[in-house]
Amino acid sequence: MISCVCRSLACFLLPLSLFGQNRIGTGEVQQLFNQLCASCHGENLEGGLGRSLITEDWIRINSELSFNDYVKQGSVDEGMPPFGDVLSHAQLRSLEIYIQEVRHKAERAGKTLVAESNGVYEAGGYRFRLETMVEGLAIPWSLAFLPDGALLITERSGALRVFREGELLPPVKGTPKVWKHGQGGLLEVALHPDYKDNGWIYIGLTSSGGERDGKAQGMTKVVRGRLQDNQWIDEELIFEVPFEWHRSAGVHFGTRFVFKDGYLFFGIGDRGAMEMAQDLSRPNGKIHRIHDDGRVPKDNPFRAESNAYPTIWAYGNRNPQGLDLHPQTGAIWESEHGPRGGDEINIIEVGNNYGWPVITHGINYNGKPIADATSAPGMEQPKHYWTPSIAVCGIDFYEGDRFPNWKYDLFAGGLASKELHRLQIEGQNVVSDGIILKDVGRVRDVASGPDGYLYVVLNGPDRIVRLVPVD
Ligand code: HEC
Repeated sequence: MISCVCRSLACFLLPLSLFGQNRIGTGEVQQLFNQLCASCHGENLEGGLGRSLITEDWIRINSELSFNDYVKQGSVDEGMPPFGDVLSHAQLRSLEIYIQEVRHKAERAGKTLVAESNGVYEAGGYRFRLETMVEGLAIPWSLAFLPDGALLITERSGALRVFREGELLPPVKGTPKVWKHGQGGLLEVALHPDYKDNGWIYIGLTSSGGERDGKAQGMTKVVRGRLQDNQWIDEELIFEVPFEWHRSAGVHFGTRFVFKDGYLFFGIGDRGAMEMAQDLSRPNGKIHRIHDDGRVPKDNPFRAESNAYPTIWAYGNRNPQGLDLHPQTGAIWESEHGPRGGDEINIIEVGNNYGWPVITHGINYNGKPIADATSAPGMEQPKHYWTPSIAVCGIDFYEGDRFPNWKYDLFAGGLASKELHRLQIEGQNVVSDGIILKDVGRVRDVASGPDGYLYVVLNGPDRIVRLVPVD
């Protein structure tokens, strides 16, 4: 039993070493906050002696001074004590995320972010309606536009669907068998940039190479084929990894395609094995580059390294869920699921290490810290991140003319948050993040349509809608 007359802060803090782990959700971080911070900032973070941590902007903590450093060193003149001697890096990280989460909830409570009345929404400087385009789908995942005005839709269960002239056709016959496992299934669909001439349609799916230790194993795979009378024909294998790299986990398959200069770029998530994202001999946790016919480019960045997986273009990615080319700069922008907190928007460049799991702005879902660093030399910082996570999914640059002020803005869907975000970009930076849709469903994908409207793929209820401006 530790007993002490608590006059000094250090004495009061002594039992803290008993907190081996600080896990959000178990009450431990809240307890830590209540013990150390609530006396001045209030149990509900509403402020008291110190400022409210939820309703007021932070002043000292900014791009130069991190939360960790500020709380470590305090601001003695203003009455904020230093905690550097008593809190570990991991404890500080969990406190930061705890505060962000409470702050986020408070911001949302009772506040409608997107105004809606009689089916007219108002956000991002426009008034618009949601026009339901396709219903009767089961977990639609991705969307592509055929030149004749039809939509091509993947359903995670394995069906490729065509929606033409108001009619949802039965599943395309002859598409490859998918491994329906957890987050896996039929995922991405995209047309080759020269589709009009060559008819190639690319799909990303999960496929199982068989069992190991009594468990089915699988991995992300890419094929291309053509469509004729609602039949999948001429299939060619574009990318597949050897069975030894298949894994049993049902998570983090990545995909999403970008075509650029004759190459195909796509991501594979860490497949639930985070440390492998840093292992260049493994295909998971990476962004890959191959020729559009599947050949491995000779000049891929790690090809000269004997052990490296030859298609790797960049690494340290947890679970890439969105990929798009900036229409003006040609840069590849990526969205990536973080853990609890720490969803990211990155610009993918050759050979870069995006840091997972060595650095992250997130923590584990069970509240345990993952990494105690948010930055490190030689590892890229995201262009934008969300804490708490929105469960960021598909992304797309808007290229239409129906919402002129949105042109070349990056739209990003959130599954857990049920939000559609609009990010304004200047050069290489995200300069604003606004919410355009809220609570109309989990936003799986977003796509700028050739008709100039913005299309959104929603799960729950499963449907595809488009945003149509109203005067
Ligand atoms: C003895 C009172 C006291 C305690 C205990 C205390 N704070 Fe503070 N805190 C302050 C005061 C005072 C300020 C700055 C002046 C103000 O805004 O009122 C401040 C400011 C802050 C800020 C705002 C920084 C900014 O950029 O504006 C944060 C964040 C913060 N504290 C976090 C914490 C955390 C986390 C703990 C617990 C580990 C904690 N504080 C414990 C008094 C306290």
